[in-house]
Amino acid sequence: MPSTDLSLSERLKSYQSFTAPAVEPVVEGRLLRVIGLTMEAVGFHAAIGCPCSVIDDHGEELEAEVVGFSGDKLFLMPVKSIQGVRSGARVIPQKTDKKLIINQHLLGRVIDGLGQPIDDLGSIPNDDLAPIKSAEQTRINPLQRAPIVEVLDVGIRAINALIPVGKGQRLGLFAGSGVGKSVLLGMMTRFTTADVVVVGLIGERGREVKEFIEHSLGEEGLKRAVVVASPADESPLMRLRASQLASQIAEYYRDQGKDVLLLMDSLTRYAQAQREIALAIGEPPATKGYPPSVFAKLPQLVERAGNGKVGSGSITAFYTVLTEGDDLQDPIADSARAILDGHVVLSRQLAESGIYPAIDVEMSISRVMTSIVDKTHIKWLQRFKQLLANYYKNRDLINIGAYIKGSDNEVDLALEYFPRLQQFIQQDISDAVYCDVSLLELRSIMDALCVPEKPAASK
Ligand SMILES: Nc1ncnc2c1ncn2[C@@H]1O[C@H](COP(=O)(O)OP(=O)(O)OP(=O)(O)O)[C@@H](O)[C@H]1O
Ligand SMILES: [Mg+2]
Repeated sequence: MPSTDLSLSERLKSYQSFTAPAVEPVVEGRLLRVIGLTMEAVGFHAAIGCPCSVIDDHGEELEAEVVGFSGDKLFLMPVKSIQGVRSGARVIPQKTDKKLIINQHLLGRVIDGLGQPIDDLGSIPNDDLAPIKSAEQTRINPLQRAPIVEVLDVGIRAINALIPVGKGQRLGLFAGSGVGKSVLLGMMTRFTTADVVVVGLIGERGREVKEFIEHSLGEEGLKRAVVVASPADESPLMRLRASQLASQIAEYYRDQGKDVLLLMDSLTRYAQAQREIALAIGEPPATKGYPPSVFAKLPQLVERAGNGKVGSGSITAFYTVLTEGDDLQDPIADSARAILDGHVVLSRQLAESGIYPAIDVEMSISRVMTSIVDKTHIKWLQRFKQLLANYYKNRDLINIGAYIKGSDNEVDLALEYFPRLQQFIQQDISDAVYCDVSLLELRSIMDALCVPEKPAASK
């Protein structure tokens, strides 16, 4: 028995060991209504982002997340199908400190938006777990980010030479459907000199996931890659989670000092998933059916890529953007162009004439090129663009035979060089062309047209 010399509070404390531990009350609510994918629950309070379990008819737990509220009513979105859920079903809020497997064992694996493996290589060793991090939690002070000063070799001649990509740069790959975005991403995955490649296949066809892994990546490519796949038939929440997971995995490797190439196919599907959720919980649509929150979420995702603090690695990212009906003014394309550090545009016209990769050099730009390549290189690539532009401007006249050679020196040059310029852009799916070769080839065309001076790949 405790001594009577102790104070009252100390005596009470010592008696606690004789009493049974308090049982935490289980708070739960009920499902009121389901409209489309949105579930409305009442009877408990939970914050936005709180995971919940909805108990279905067979006693199975379905995972959902709080995405909004109105008074005492909570709006939830399911992670998977809600088949079997009925009115009055129990809704139990879960702890928010759920952890994910984010470690070096992810290399060579294909996982879903919840971090679970979907390949047949068994479970992933979970010796290193990390909490799910939001964009706010991983935000880097812009003044502490290392500047973009070095070139990243992506193994594509036209990009290496004419749209040079810097380590830590975020680019958009803009094109209509079926113009070759996925094939180009696949080539970069195999050919890049980055240490790790993280691929997010978001909202695209399920068939393409297997195709991408087997054909585009291949066994060799997969060894240094992590693929996060959430095809179109999955819930919008799952697609959002997959995009965020791909970004968090890229951050993990960047913080280990690695140069990471993050490929996200596609940013448009990410925006559409965000649109589905926002509309479902009652946010009014603004531009082309997209509610304003979509445009706020895009930079949050994109800002996760880029260079880390000085001394850590880099995340160079390519986000594909579907330009519906080849309309570059599409609101998502427009917004993406404003927040990215450059864009590679693929042209349907080139693809239709069998020119692959169908990179429209005139329309594409790397906004960091002046800080990563030297002046001679810039002079060459500008001259290349001028000649192409001159040819396209006068193409109709040339084609109908109305242009008379000798009328304009610049057009004569464009006419003479055009076949070589077009040849330069083309590249076979199975051939890599690294930076040094790309530059030598660009030099061999441009030497005669510019002041000859030996360029260096990077400063
Ligand atoms: N480099 C290439 N060489 C030869 N053919 C190519 C090349 N790139 C693309 N193609 C052809 O174009 C087709 C469509 O390419 P891809 O699937 O990459 O387009 P996409 O822009 O990703 O389309 P979507 O928007 O529908 O996803 C391919 O199936 C292939 O036939
Ligand atoms: Mg595609």
